[in-house]
Formats: sequence, C-alpha cells, structure tokens
Amino acid sequence: MADTPKEIYFKKKEIAEDSDGSKELQVQRFSRLNRLLHIIMIISFINLALTGMSLKFSYTGWAVFLSHLFGGFESAGWIHRFSAVIMILVFTMHIIDILRQKKKEKKSWIMMVFDTDSMMFNKKDLHDLIDSIKWFLGKGERPEYGRWTYWEKFDYFAVFWGMIVIGSTGLTLWFPEFFTQFIPGWAINVATIIHSDEALLAVGFIFTIHFFNTHMRPEKFPMDIVIFSGRYPLEEFKMDRPEEYRQLVERGELEKYMVEPYPSIVLRTIKLFGWAALCIGFSIVIWIIYAMIFAYK
Ligand code: HEM
Repeated sequence: MADTPKEIYFKKKEIAEDSDGSKELQVQRFSRLNRLLHIIMIISFINLALTGMSLKFSYTGWAVFLSHLFGGFESAGWIHRFSAVIMILVFTMHIIDILRQKKKEKKSWIMMVFDTDSMMFNKKDLHDLIDSIKWFLGKGERPEYGRWTYWEKFDYFAVFWGMIVIGSTGLTLWFPEFFTQFIPGWAINVATIIHSDEALLAVGFIFTIHFFNTHMRPEKFPMDIVIFSGRYPLEEFKMDRPEEYRQLVERGELEKYMVEPYPSIVLRTIKLFGWAALCIGFSIVIWIIYAMIFAYK
C-alpha cells in the first residue's frame, strides 16, 4: 500500500532535513529562463493586484494607506500600467521560448501539444484526478504523477486564459480613444467590468487555489521553492514524480538533469522572497473579503 498523505509529509520532511547543506547532486526541473520569468511575473502580478485593488476598493482604509505608499491614486494607476507592460513582456517571452524550443527539438505542433511532456490535458490526467481523490480518501494508492500534474496544467491554462482576457481589456481601458475607432463607446464600460471581475478571479485563484496546490499539499508543505531554485533532491523527485523518474531512467537521460545544489545562503534568500510573496498574497485575499463583506459599495 502506498504512503498516505500524512506519511508523505513526514517522508518529505526527512528528505528536506537530509538534503539541507548536502553536496549531493539534485534534479533540475526548471530552466533559468523559466525561473526568471516566474519571479518577474510574481513581482509584476503582486504590484498589479495591490495597485488595481487599491483603485477598485478605493473607499477602504487599506486602499488609502496603500495609495499613500504608491504616491497617490494617480501614480498607483501609472505603477499599474508599468507593471502591466512587464507582465505582457513576460508572457511574450514565454511564447517566444515555446517557439524556440519547438524549433530546437524539431517537433511538429501535434507533437508539441500531445507529447507526454506537454501542458495539454490527456487521458492520464483524468485517471490521476480520480485516483488522487481515492488516495485522499484512503481508498487507493498515490497516483504515479508525471512531468506535469493535472492541477499544474489547470493553473497554467488559468493564467494563459486570464492573461488574454485581462490584458486585452486592460489595454482597452488604457487606450480608449484608439479602441473606440473599432468598438462602440459602451464597450469601454463592459471592458471595465470584465477587467475588474477577472482581476478578482485571478487574485482569488492565484492567492488561494494556486498557493494551496503548490505549497500546502503534504509533499511540499510549507513551501515549494523549486520554481526559484529550479532543482530538488533526487529522493524528493522519485517520491513526487514517479512516472517522470521512470521515463528518464528508461531513456537513460537522468544524468543529463543532475546539477549541483545551491548553497544555504541562496536557499535562505529564496525562502525569504517566497514567504514575502505568500504573506502579501494572503493579505490581499483577506483585504478583498473584508472589503466585499463589510465595506462594499
Ligand atoms: C496585464 C495587463 C493589464 C493592463 C494593460 C491593465 C490596465 C489597467 C488600466 C489602464 C486600468 C485603469 C486604471 C486607472 O483608472 O487609472 C486598470 C484597472 C484595474 N486593474 Fe488592470 N491591467 C492589467 C492587468 C491587471 C491584473 C493582472 C490585475 C489584477 C491582478 C488588474 C487589476 C485591476 C483592477 C482591480 C483595476 C480597477 C478596476 C476598477 O476600477 O474596478 N489589472 N487596469
């Protein structure tokens, strides 16, 4: 019988303690570019959320406090626009990276989309979802997760879709004179509603469900730093992604992914950044709930 979520939590804790300060090689999960893009996206998203919500809930004390920090509501609007440009650049870089990878690996679009390493949902994800629920209920084994799990794919597409909706409506609000050459004036009001509600959805989703999926599950609690460090201990990899591990061993490619661990000082800095992002995110959610229940106008 496979490990229960509780046993997995203690196993992970043991691995983390053993690997602390160890010089043993680790498994590379994310490229340097992907890590950098994720860090920049976190910073720009938090800025967008803080400045955007201070405009949306401008009648709350928190918004007034934040707007002072940002130099007033007008300058909060400009910080919002600057962060939006950064976020659009991150999104564009990610698309260029996918195209570059496709060219390098000489893959067709069909292969890119339906490969086992792809972000696209497949039949295994449905089985993994059902088996995960059985595992949570103590009625089955932990699924043999692969390179990307169903919840990671879901989170990825949520951001992808969100970027298109929030980006297009945000640009419409930024340049109304330009866009009203092609769309009626009332569409600007609709764009405001869509932008504002999609922002609530994005903030609510990222700072609760995404945080929970990533950091609160027993395999990772209290925080998974792999998106920043890009690497994790081999034992953790074997436990967390058994299918990916097996495929790499079968193809004789595991060696290719073994890299030096980072020194403790780098890991401590990463954790500090991670905790700051988590705390700001949770605080924004509490502020939104407070504003909607007690102060909504
Ligand atoms: C990425 C592209 C984005 C662009 C181009 C953009 C642009 C804008 C613009 C021009 C405004 C009006 C600001 C003003 O009145 O001074 C606005 C408002 C707002 N934005 Fe964004 N934004 C983007 C992304 C985001 C994101 C990711 C969030 C949330 C995390 C967000 C949340 C908001 C909110 C809550 C408002 C206030 C809406 C209201 O008044 O009800 N925006 N945005």
